[in-house]
Amino acid sequence: MPSTKTIIVSNRLPIRIEKEGDSLNYVPSEGGLATALGSIYKEGENIWVGWPGAAFEQEALKAEVTEGLKKESMRPVFLTEQELEDYYLGFSNQTLWPAFHYFLQYIQYVEAHWQTYESVNRKFADAIATYANPGDTIWVHDYQLLLLPGMLRERFPNMTIGFFQHIPFPSYEVFRILPWRRQLLEGMLGADYLGFHTYDDMRHFLSATHRLAGYPYSGNRIQLDKRVVVADPLPMGIDYEKYAENAVHPESIDREARYRENIGAQRLLLSMDRLDYSKGIPKRLLAFEALLERYPQYKEKVSLLLVVVPSRDVVPNYQSLKEQVDELVGKINSKYGRMSWQPIQYFYRSYPFRALGAFYRMCDVAVITPVRDGMNLVCKEYVASRENQDGVLILSEMAGAAKELADAILVNPTNQNQVVEAMHQALQMPLEEQQRRMRIMQKGLRKYNIFQWVKLFFDNLQEVKRMQRAMATPLLDGAGRDAMLKAYAKSEQRLLLLDYDGTLVGFREDPLDCAPDQDLRELLTALAADKANKVVVISGRKHETLGEWLGALPIQLVAEHGLWSKQVDGEWTRNAADTTSQWRDGAHEIMQFYVDRTPGSFVEEKSDSMAWHYRKVEKGLGEMRKSELTSHLKHMLGEKGLQVLDGDHVVELKPEAVNKGRAAAGLHAEATYSFVLCIGDDTTDEDMFEALPDEAFTVKVGPGSSYARSALETVGDVHALLRDLKEV
Ligand code: UDP
Ligand code: G6P
Repeated sequence: MPSTKTIIVSNRLPIRIEKEGDSLNYVPSEGGLATALGSIYKEGENIWVGWPGAAFEQEALKAEVTEGLKKESMRPVFLTEQELEDYYLGFSNQTLWPAFHYFLQYIQYVEAHWQTYESVNRKFADAIATYANPGDTIWVHDYQLLLLPGMLRERFPNMTIGFFQHIPFPSYEVFRILPWRRQLLEGMLGADYLGFHTYDDMRHFLSATHRLAGYPYSGNRIQLDKRVVVADPLPMGIDYEKYAENAVHPESIDREARYRENIGAQRLLLSMDRLDYSKGIPKRLLAFEALLERYPQYKEKVSLLLVVVPSRDVVPNYQSLKEQVDELVGKINSKYGRMSWQPIQYFYRSYPFRALGAFYRMCDVAVITPVRDGMNLVCKEYVASRENQDGVLILSEMAGAAKELADAILVNPTNQNQVVEAMHQALQMPLEEQQRRMRIMQKGLRKYNIFQWVKLFFDNLQEVKRMQRAMATPLLDGAGRDAMLKAYAKSEQRLLLLDYDGTLVGFREDPLDCAPDQDLRELLTALAADKANKVVVISGRKHETLGEWLGALPIQLVAEHGLWSKQVDGEWTRNAADTTSQWRDGAHEIMQFYVDRTPGSFVEEKSDSMAWHYRKVEKGLGEMRKSELTSHLKHMLGEKGLQVLDGDHVVELKPEAVNKGRAAAGLHAEATYSFVLCIGDDTTDEDMFEALPDEAFTVKVGPGSSYARSALETVGDVHALLRDLKEV
């Protein structure tokens, strides 16, 4: 049996291969992901698979690179010039990137690009198949490889596959524009667990999956034909200590001194990003110009340190952006500059790690105003680098990081007036306020660092696998069926819990057209005639309807998911609210997620409810988070019979009267049964399957995963089973 391993996959390997004379140098990346996963992919047999960053065409060179990378625990996927053109520059960066960042006018619809995207994803799958065994864990990263999880699933039906999306996932309304939307979704759904930076990204994905591919979901679980898949918000952190240490490293301090000699002593605003239209660089420059116009006192006192890192520079939109930035900088510098002062210090290049340490130290304010960004790590790195907790972060609401960094000055990047005022506010902010805000942000980032993120990802992925195993439901036939009949025969006290629609009767267009026929009534009556049997029909239907249809039979009825019940020959009684606490853990986890991202908010545990209070939260932010939390709770817990109440500066969650799971548990507790059978077909019945003890015979009707121990295919099969029981 081969040992299991973990394989990380991303478009780019975390390494730079440099030619020096006749030999090649391998320079590992300092990027956050590479650092975080370093302890994983370099262990034992684990590997990282990806493109080595340049088009190596000659076979001898490829062999040399393969050998060189092996020492770094990496395996290359070589791409030709044409593949890079169509898959990387084309489909990834001129179709998916603009679509997912809401730049609809930039989307290219090129069939040839799509076809190469597909074939390159297959190339990755082929490469992985040569290294992987079915028991391995694979973690696929980002939008360049959306089809890969599906392709791997075809080859390895039981493999553990995780996927993380590092860029936004757009609203269904945007996603559906793409001609290849369905294939993209099916590709992603090959994963068992899908992580997104924010709750909204996850919500958009769930909605697209449901509306375009028709898969039902409950909370964040998507029911595919054969598997359950989970989507989750899991914001990526940084290696906090590494940035904190870098900022006080002698080389960073030394660099700061050298840079200062050239730049001068004026106060600095930092702007640092890859050259990308999603980053909002021109808007930021115009806002800076407007600042100088509106507040001339900053002339000669303040400069903008503009670092633009070259990226994808053969793509036409990136080229024109570069020209636009060059032009704007030229215009502003020539208009306001003096011999002794340059308004914008502009550098179009990438810097080593210690230089970043110097920049983060030097700048009083970081202006991070992307028009759309999946997360944005630069803003987190800036915060981690402020050793004295001074400095101000201006952050765009459109960056995923804004969900966590509520103590930044949050702005809408398209609102120039707001950005100008934010710059002014930042430059005027008293030290105590700077430190108060910085302290809170540092605390959050230190806790939710990148190592925590990686750990959570793997833990959650394993948890999904465990759940899938628990929900694998074999068909009830042969030995399983015999065992059930034998247990029935032997037992002297039995509980039969039967759902109605989809279980005892099939679905009809008109729900009132589902009255039981004579056969079914006779069958239920015959089962109930056995003194050992307690037969209960437990349904979500209105009690009046159930009473009318089944009230005269010698069976017990439970209606409206447990709200009403009726004994044999008795009257309907309404049940009191149940206050069991099974829901608490899940609810607490969600509320804590918002506490960590919303300074001033807190959770209150009450005897039969749980509340998230935001009365001490900054105005505006509290209201924004309230809407998100409400939607999050409804999404994740609504079907568990919980109610979300919107109060005065509080969101409260409490159990609705009852659900079928609690009703089933209550019935089960009434006596000591030696045989329990529960049959149902939909999500509300899953609560019963979960609530009953392991030895109960739980049966799911129809396809799909379930907590039930076994499955039957049709309502006819249910009738046949009940008839067999009656005959025992
Ligand atoms: N960065 C870098 N060299 C530079 C400037 C920035 O390596 O000269 C790093 C920066 O430290 C950050 C990353 O590039 O970790 C940018 O990540 P972010 O999430 O902010 O934006 P992305 O480029 O992924 O869109
Ligand atoms: C973003 C993407 C990454 C990508 C990086 C650099 O962060 O999410 O997947 O690697 O930009 O872009 P590049 O095209 O140079 O790989």
